[in-house]
Amino acid sequence: MEYRTLGRTGLRVSTLCLGTMTFGEADDSSFMHKVGCDEDTAFAIMNRALDGGINFFDTADVYGQDGLTERVIGKWFDRDKRRDDVVLATKFRFRMGRGPNGSGASRHRIMRSCEDSLRRLRTDRIDLYQVHMQDVDTPEEETLRALDDLITAGKVLYIGASNYAAYRLADSVWTSRTNGLARFASLQAQYSLIAREIEREHVPLCREHGLGILPWSPLAAGLLSGKYRGSQRPPAGSRLDQWKDRWGRLDNERNWKVVDALVMIAAELGATPAQVALAWLLRKPAVTSVIFGARSLAQLDDNLEAGAVRLPDEMVRKLDEVSAFDLGYPYDFMARIQGRW
Ligand SMILES: NC(=O)c1ccc[n+]([C@@H]2O[C@H](COP(=O)([O-])OP(=O)(O)OC[C@H]3O[C@@H](n4cnc5c(N)ncnc54)[C@H](OP(=O)(O)O)[C@@H]3O)[C@@H](O)[C@H]2O)c1
Repeated sequence: MEYRTLGRTGLRVSTLCLGTMTFGEADDSSFMHKVGCDEDTAFAIMNRALDGGINFFDTADVYGQDGLTERVIGKWFDRDKRRDDVVLATKFRFRMGRGPNGSGASRHRIMRSCEDSLRRLRTDRIDLYQVHMQDVDTPEEETLRALDDLITAGKVLYIGASNYAAYRLADSVWTSRTNGLARFASLQAQYSLIAREIEREHVPLCREHGLGILPWSPLAAGLLSGKYRGSQRPPAGSRLDQWKDRWGRLDNERNWKVVDALVMIAAELGATPAQVALAWLLRKPAVTSVIFGARSLAQLDDNLEAGAVRLPDEMVRKLDEVSAFDLGYPYDFMARIQGRW
């Protein structure tokens, strides 16, 4: 396993990060209903991930329902005593409580959310505390000051952003700098061979300001594992069988071309499509660690091997070409004239 420094911090994390969104059997009030795994499987996956060299886990208060996934992780910390082997990332921001202050990134919500997550996770600190999505109703300075106070109190070690517009993230970096506040070490964002939109603004921004990128849904919810093929029904019980809307958005000619190329390259390398999809991301600028999902040990074992796949330059190029997306103005204008933006 390779380890990289998270943004401009001294923290070393594995290039593969274990996503835990599928942990715990959520009921039908949760968006994860029927696409997760039970507690025992989650415990086994966490142990095997650690044994395989992964030291970085990502979760959120909203995963499962009513904090279920955080509670599963907390129970495992208690049972297996491996808390100190893990760099633990969690998130807050979406609705977890009643009333007008039950969601958001206000000081009020942050202090409450942090205490709740610490209790569910049965730990005294969160290693990376992330804003799950920007909150345009709260001044960024208020969010940063509250997070900075949590760092001073020792409850949080580093902070990160997720699902921020680039303008807001740039504003945030500037606000931290000019006010002497802690700054985001990382940006967690959707990024894969299927979803490359962050290359327009977020990737250059993160390179410039030293934020590490943590791609989420790197397998496009399983599409890039190669088990889905155009014109065939999704395998029964898989996430894209359950999530009809997402399937509807993914089922198009461009994406099947990407999957075909991925399957071909994987066969040439003697690897699996999932491994190649993860390895491609690890060749991209500013990417620190790729947050993949696995809801069985077999999926984990497959994905773990991605760390050992070395993609030759010409294969990276081929995958870049087949997954090229419409840059739109002004990026296409600049790219045409100077080849970059
Ligand atoms: N910040 C955010 O807003 C945000 C949003 C989403 C996710 N995340 C984070 O990112 C993590 C990963 O997201 P994700 O679960 O969408 O990622 P993903 O890696 O794109 O998809 C994982 C799913 O793909 C299937 N799969 C995984 N490996 C496979 C393999 N080797 N062979 C066949 N199928 C395989 C499994 O679903 P099936 O078995 O059901 O097919 C698995 O649950 C989450 O756990 C969470 O920590 C963050």
